Amino acid sequence: PETLERQRAHRPVLDVAHRGASGYAPENTLAAIDKAASLGATTVELDIQRTKDHKLVVIHDTTLRRTTDVAKVFPDRAPYNVGDFTLREIKRLDAGSWFDRSFAGEKVPTLQEALDRLRRHRVNFLLEIKAPVLYPGIEDQIAQTIKSNPYWLVPDGRGGYEKLVIQSFDRDSARRSKERLRSIPHGILGRVAENDLARYSSWADQINPNHTTIDAAYVRRVHAAGMEVHTYTINEPGDMRRAIAMGVDGIISDYPDRLRQVIREQ
Ligand code: G3P
Ligand code: CA
Repeated sequence: PETLERQRAHRPVLDVAHRGASGYAPENTLAAIDKAASLGATTVELDIQRTKDHKLVVIHDTTLRRTTDVAKVFPDRAPYNVGDFTLREIKRLDAGSWFDRSFAGEKVPTLQEALDRLRRHRVNFLLEIKAPVLYPGIEDQIAQTIKSNPYWLVPDGRGGYEKLVIQSFDRDSARRSKERLRSIPHGILGRVAENDLARYSSWADQINPNHTTIDAAYVRRVHAAGMEVHTYTINEPGDMRRAIAMGVDGIISDYPDRLRQVIREQ
């Protein structure tokens, strides 16, 4: 639609800090959110999963092994699935030392803690529902959490962009979430075949593919179907410029400072 096109033409490409500023701080922690904010990121992307006692937490892998010291604290609990540990147990883990000793004591945040920290910094939030097939009903829980934090339901966020967007590689999950949070834009992660774009545009607002899988013609097709394109994960300035030339609406990067610099040059 023409209005959407006009809006797009007047807005710079959106800069999204991937898992927080994960090039500089341990991914998916409050420290990574703080770092992204201090670098001026407009939006922060974080991954949401669920504990054994059904608390929503911020973590990327479906196990705790890579980004915490779980193997040291609970040596007999392999394979260390996020969903096999209570929040109390997960809060005993160090989620910072694996990245750098200076982050020792950093914790796995809850979704609520992340919402509060993002709000304090006035940065927008790109929420990924990660591996929802492991967590039946997680879309309801996320919707309830957002509805009990009405600040996030007000659409206008930093830079004139949406304050909150929800995305998932799991298209059914993204759709279930959209049905529960109608006013919140939702994205499908991964490239959607051209022939399916019209069908998904009945409820999806964004198609968010890996940057290596798209070109300018694809971006045009998504726009023609009335959706935006936010592409991940781009860390090299040359690739950022290439994506901007394709006409993408947003870029997700571990290095939000590099990305802002490239966007400023445009
Ligand atoms: O936001 C896009 C990106 O986060 C998707 O990939 O594996 O980093 O969650 P992943
Ligand atoms: Ca993610």
